[in-house]
Amino acid sequence: MGYQAHFRVWRGDAGGGDLGDYTVEVNEGEVVLDIIHRIQATQAPDLAVRWNCKAGKCGSCSAEINGRPGLMCMKRMSTFSEDETVTVTPMRTFPVVKDLVCDVSYNYAKAREVPAFRPPEGLEPGEYRMQQVDVQRSQEFRKCIECFLCQNTCHVIRDHEDNKQAFSGPRFLMRVAELDMHPLDTHEEAGGHRAAEARGDHGLGLCNITKCCTEVCPEHIQITDNALIPLKERVADHRYDPILRLFRK
Ligand code: SF4
Ligand code: F3S
Ligand code: FES
Repeated sequence: MGYQAHFRVWRGDAGGGDLGDYTVEVNEGEVVLDIIHRIQATQAPDLAVRWNCKAGKCGSCSAEINGRPGLMCMKRMSTFSEDETVTVTPMRTFPVVKDLVCDVSYNYAKAREVPAFRPPEGLEPGEYRMQQVDVQRSQEFRKCIECFLCQNTCHVIRDHEDNKQAFSGPRFLMRVAELDMHPLDTHEEAGGHRAAEARGDHGLGLCNITKCCTEVCPEHIQITDNALIPLKERVADHRYDPILRLFRK
């Protein structure tokens, strides 16, 4: 049986905005994105919302629902009571373009700053041989759908715009960790050191392991435990290993 829900949706642009009130029909089995689409179809044709798959796989429909970051297409209306007001606002950490659509280019800029995978010289794609255990270690990280909810939630940049320059965020620190764990990556032989760069170039030291990134990840990737903490341990090894220190001297 359907019912009428009360929605509050943020409307505005870079110059500012406010919450708009909508009373809208909800049917069995629907998700928040269905309701946003119904508002768009029946009451607010100019309401801007980004989405693609409606299956939790494209990472486009990230927003904040009653203040909690999540994917609109995966948030079931059945998780709210019928008399509950549902408030939908854009991700807070990134500049708004219009309504629920943010400018997430910060993330693409940070992605470009991570040096690419560097295979051993002369090894062609298709010739890579790896132990299953090495494949499995980073497979978890490859599930990332780039929804940027972890980036949006991490307090290091959520409340501190001035940290954006120095901090690449959990998604891209995880990318560094993934490459660091790759047995065929020769970045180190070429003079680099992924973990040291995570600290120096990507702000790993600003992460104080609050794990909020892990909590909001729709792919349930253990970002903190499996990527960030091992990376921090590698930094510590690199900095304090007495033999390495001797070499560096
Ligand atoms: Fe989204 Fe998880 Fe990838 Fe972060 S790690 S961008 S929360 S899928
Ligand atoms: Fe931020 Fe995640 Fe670290 S929320 S502080 S990157 S554990
Ligand atoms: Fe693709 Fe929600 S529309 S993840």
